[in-house]
Amino acid sequence: VMSKVALTVNGQSRELDVDTRTTLLDALRENLHLTGTKKGCDQGQCGACTVIVDGRRINSCLSLAVMHNGAQVTTIEGLGTPDKLHPMQAAFVKHDGYQCGYCTPGQICSAVSVLDEIRKGIPSHVTGDLTQAPLLSAAEIRERMSGNICRCGAYSNILDAITEVAG
Ligand code: FES
Repeated sequence: VMSKVALTVNGQSRELDVDTRTTLLDALRENLHLTGTKKGCDQGQCGACTVIVDGRRINSCLSLAVMHNGAQVTTIEGLGTPDKLHPMQAAFVKHDGYQCGYCTPGQICSAVSVLDEIRKGIPSHVTGDLTQAPLLSAAEIRERMSGNICRCGAYSNILDAITEVAG
């Protein structure tokens, strides 16, 4: 069954005609050609497909596009441009927070959301609410980023990048 979905993607109004079974990930990549968002596992395990929907990060492979009618979606393409990187993108470049780069868009969308979660006082589910701490501990960042897998193992550099922006 086809359905119309209206989304605001990176500040632009977009209308899509999608099969109701289409994931948000496939809608972004296939219908809107926003291929910055990556498909790793397509089953909620790796975080490569992380995008920000109405201010919260989600795995876009686990969510149907039709569930998001009227939503504001931010993808890696909406965070910065090659000339004007988002501070988190700049920090990943500075600290070599990637090797092959495949997980990087998801890592960066997640990291941007983590800082927002802290600002809004949203507790992490394992370490509890550490928002009283003036700076994020490494453990807190690691826990909040644990849904984003990097198969190259660039974790320490990713942590350095996020720590710099968080500080
Ligand atoms: Fe969505 Fe792996 S592609 S979590």
